[in-house]
Amino acid sequence: MAATETTRPDLSGSAFLRAARGEPVPHTPVWFMRQAGRSLPEYLKVREGTGMLESCMDPGLVVEITLQPVRRYGVDAAIFFSDIVLPLKAVGVDLDIKPGVGPVVARPVRTLADVEAIPDLTPEHVPFISQAVRGLVGELGSTPLIGFAGAPFTVASYLVEGGPSKEHAKTKAMMFGAPDVWDALMRKIAGISAAYLDVQVAAGASAVQLFDSWAGALTPADYAAHVMPHSARVLAAAGELGVPRIHFGVGTSNLLTLMGEAGADVVGVDWRTPLASAIPQVGDRGVQGNLDPTLVFAPTDVMTARAAEVIEAGRAAKGHIFNLGHGVIPSTDPDQLKRLTEFVQSYPV
Ligand code: CP3
Repeated sequence: MAATETTRPDLSGSAFLRAARGEPVPHTPVWFMRQAGRSLPEYLKVREGTGMLESCMDPGLVVEITLQPVRRYGVDAAIFFSDIVLPLKAVGVDLDIKPGVGPVVARPVRTLADVEAIPDLTPEHVPFISQAVRGLVGELGSTPLIGFAGAPFTVASYLVEGGPSKEHAKTKAMMFGAPDVWDALMRKIAGISAAYLDVQVAAGASAVQLFDSWAGALTPADYAAHVMPHSARVLAAAGELGVPRIHFGVGTSNLLTLMGEAGADVVGVDWRTPLASAIPQVGDRGVQGNLDPTLVFAPTDVMTARAAEVIEAGRAAKGHIFNLGHGVIPSTDPDQLKRLTEFVQSYPV
């Protein structure tokens, strides 16, 4: 991949990349899950009249929306504006992202034939992604770009349920009751997610995050038997690309060790698990997180006191990347996120 690497700016001083590799940092790096999107007025303005998936396929819009939070907050990393179901859409799965609802799949996957009807992803399916990433890397300068994909379990949940789900009952019923269909589906999604990350890194993304947002629905034994090997395949493929890998899920206090062992350099932790208990679980890896996303609605001094506790706890980790414990809540005041960013970046290391 030498041809693409030569176009990459020098990011050796990046606090985000240094923390991800467990190297000393000039300050605690900070970015926010869902920083690109709904809470910014400038986002709502450029998105006016354009559907979510349509926006993800428009490189000009993707570049603009990805840059907006970097300009406004000065965060230490950009997250690529896309969605975990975008690669499925790109290979031809009939789905939409409904405002306020999330991904909705027209014909949910139930049988082996349904799985086999989903094509594998090739770079030809997503030329607009390569174009957007290349444009971004040029504009971002010394700020690294995080590429991302959905982990097989979380993506499978949307495909099998047909939309957002609390219990993931149909998904887990397939996992428990139809192991051949489950295995084929997980292999299919793992291949698509790995190929999607490959495209983003080949075009210049400097790190990747694998989102297994709904893995917290599983027991450790079921995660280890039915999910982890497939996520591990995606993370191993990303590891071959030489970029740091962040592995995140919600409600995963009982899965953090396994999520690290799946092949992560950094394990993302939601706000329910104190970093002090997460760090021994992830061992010789970094952690990312984990301020409660509702704390930005509290008075600034309350928010920053809690942020300080997170930073202090993070000192025990091999590397710490500050983030919220899940995505930015849409009604968040951007000025408060700006204050939080400045607080974290100026906190003594
Ligand atoms: O800023 C960023 O984080 C980058 C963009 C991003 C989006 N989705 C844009 C988006 C990322 C990283 C995602 C990942 C994603 N998508 C996940 C994993 C992260 C997580 O939050 O746990 C999941 C589970 C999805 C599926 C999905 N897509 C959901 C649950 C929703 C929200 C539904 C809603 O509106 O409440 C979406 C839609 C979506 N993805 C929006 C954005 C900006 C909102 C759509 C819009 O603005 O019209």
